[in-house]
Amino acid sequence: MPVYNLSINGKTTSVTAVADMPLLWVLRDLLHLRGTKYGCGLGICGSCTLMVDGKATQSCLLPISLAEGKQITTIEGLSADGDHPVQEAWKAVHVPQCGYCQSGQIMQATALLAANPNPKENEIEESMSKILCRCGTYPRIKKAIALAAKKIQ
Ligand code: FES
Ligand code: FES
Repeated sequence: MPVYNLSINGKTTSVTAVADMPLLWVLRDLLHLRGTKYGCGLGICGSCTLMVDGKATQSCLLPISLAEGKQITTIEGLSADGDHPVQEAWKAVHVPQCGYCQSGQIMQATALLAANPNPKENEIEESMSKILCRCGTYPRIKKAIALAAKKIQ
């Protein structure tokens, strides 16, 4: 099997895997980074969202062979102590309910604010609708993004 050198959360990690192994399973099963969640494996739910070169990306659809040479950021690498402005806002607003979708939500929100530090309400809704939350935390997600946007500016 080929060896891939991945840049994950600022560190280079060598992984031996088949070329089409999804990044999600590389992270969870081979590297034991389990903050990125499996929901559907089909690019529908968004729970596996992380950032690749700063853009929100569904890791269940990204084969390891296409992840090499890119900067991958998972929820574990967003901050050292859970103190990224988006994480702080999430805590202040008490966004999570069951919590399952929340790492995907936070990574999607972080990528949104990196690209658009002052998003309009419809832009937040459009971006965050890509991550399904069966607990219906969207109203709190919107509040938290607005709060994080104020801190980031
Ligand atoms: S697990 Fe990747 S989109 Fe659902
Ligand atoms: S908090 Fe339960 S699915 Fe989103």
